[in-house]
Amino acid sequence: MKRIVILISGHGSNMQALLEAKLPCQVVAVISNRSDAQGLKIARAHHVTTAVVSHRDFAERESFDAALSKEIDSFQPDLVVLAGFMRILTNGFVEHYAGRLINIHPSLLPAYAGVNTHERALRDGVKIHGCTVHFVTSDLDNGPIIIQAAVPVLINDSPASLAARVLHEEHRVLQQAVRWLCNKQLWLDELGRIASDHFEQVGATLISPGLD
Ligand code: GAR
Repeated sequence: MKRIVILISGHGSNMQALLEAKLPCQVVAVISNRSDAQGLKIARAHHVTTAVVSHRDFAERESFDAALSKEIDSFQPDLVVLAGFMRILTNGFVEHYAGRLINIHPSLLPAYAGVNTHERALRDGVKIHGCTVHFVTSDLDNGPIIIQAAVPVLINDSPASLAARVLHEEHRVLQQAVRWLCNKQLWLDELGRIASDHFEQVGATLISPGLD
């Protein structure tokens, strides 16, 4: 069975969705850069090994990433999932995990890379927003896209209400992405593009606001 390490920084609801999804893999560890991350308690309640590598203990990004990498590798993972991990990673770290490092991001990439995605989407008045699971490359929030979910932006949305609608979909697409990868139903081809023998092509269009 594939071995997965999940990295978190906060609530850990995406991690929890993976722990509760009955996936064909074993979550061998949850690692956080913050000892107060709420998700650590959830992981322990699921009897998953946890570890903390605090970025505050390191003066440079490189030394933090080296320590993080050492901790991750001690669990010999096949796949590393960034599930709300709020640190920018060095090129060396990303290259070390090339093809086995994925991230969940709260926007329809390539729109709204970075932080405060929901506030920025509301400010721009976009009518459709969403989330993306992608392989991580050395460009921030920019790697081969595995799956996306789109949600409507409603007229009275606040950043919080929009975030909640997106987060609900994050849990679903992250579970799906991990399932595909663990079942070897999705992979990167020799040119670094997504390949799969398992995609269900959706024909429905999301128009928002709806037509009369
Ligand atoms: C999620 O919305 C995730 O997409 C986002 O942080 C939140 C973590 O929630 N990640 C990023 O913004 C990474 N750039 P969670 O801790 O409840 O899973």
